[in-house]
Amino acid sequence: MNMKRQTEFELRKISSRVFDKSTLMTLYTLTRRNSINEIVSIVSTGKEANVYYGIGGNEEVAIKIYAIETSDFKTMDKYIRGDIRFGEWKNRRQLIFNWAKKEFKNLSRIYKKVKCPRPIDVENNVLVMEFIGEGGIPAPRMKDLPPDDPEKYFNLILRYIHEMYSLGIVHGDLSEYNILNWNEPVIIDLSMGVLKSHPLADELLMRDITRICNYFKKFGIESNALEIFNSVKHKDAKENCGEDNRKGA
Ligand SMILES: Nc1ncnc2c1ncn2[C@@H]1O[C@H](COP(=O)(O)OP(=O)(O)OP(=O)(O)O)[C@@H](O)[C@H]1O
Ligand SMILES: [Mg+2]
Repeated sequence: MNMKRQTEFELRKISSRVFDKSTLMTLYTLTRRNSINEIVSIVSTGKEANVYYGIGGNEEVAIKIYAIETSDFKTMDKYIRGDIRFGEWKNRRQLIFNWAKKEFKNLSRIYKKVKCPRPIDVENNVLVMEFIGEGGIPAPRMKDLPPDDPEKYFNLILRYIHEMYSLGIVHGDLSEYNILNWNEPVIIDLSMGVLKSHPLADELLMRDITRICNYFKKFGIESNALEIFNSVKHKDAKENCGEDNRKGA
């Protein structure tokens, strides 16, 4: 058996009891593309998605697999409807596939300017990205490992909020739960992210900023969420005349 066949065989052996048939097929596709060679362990389980640690190509990868059956269809619908990057969907399955693609597209747009996992591949409900951590141990969340230098982290996170906005994206679920602490803040979980042209964008931007301001208040950092919100909007209006000039990306 050649290496690739063997990897596929191993994958099938390990996975057949864990994944449903269609997810297995998707994992085979990603194996053929060399984006995944091995799924080693589970990192996180959730209602919407499980995250696994694995190897792909020559690097450690995080594999996020969205659940087709248990995901909260209604909430997802709210955050993806009106996103001009996606067409209509006919059923739950297609919505989840678009949801995974949305996270991939959001990461692709921001990863060069914002410290976040580099996106590697996406197929149906499976997203492959750079693994933040080492030897299969994921970096701790900022919720679990507070920053040594809160001032530095606060300023960096604000810079990332600005950067994301200039790139046309509002994270939408930013908090200490979705920031990893790996010697520096690393922004994860961009699945809720919306384009700034989306009807919910302002509301989500204000919520993101408020959560970050509240978190850093505990470390004695005083800030004004509304002022930050206005400065993000103002800076963007000056730079881009408020236009989302990368609609297709
Ligand atoms: N690229 C990554 N590298 C290392 N660990 C990761 C990575 N992505 C996610 N994780 C781990 O998996 C956990 C869950 O990931 P994430 O926040 O993306 O999904 P979720 O909150 O479970 O699902 P949802 O996207 O539906 O909110 C994270 O808290 C983190 O511990
Ligand atoms: Mg999360």
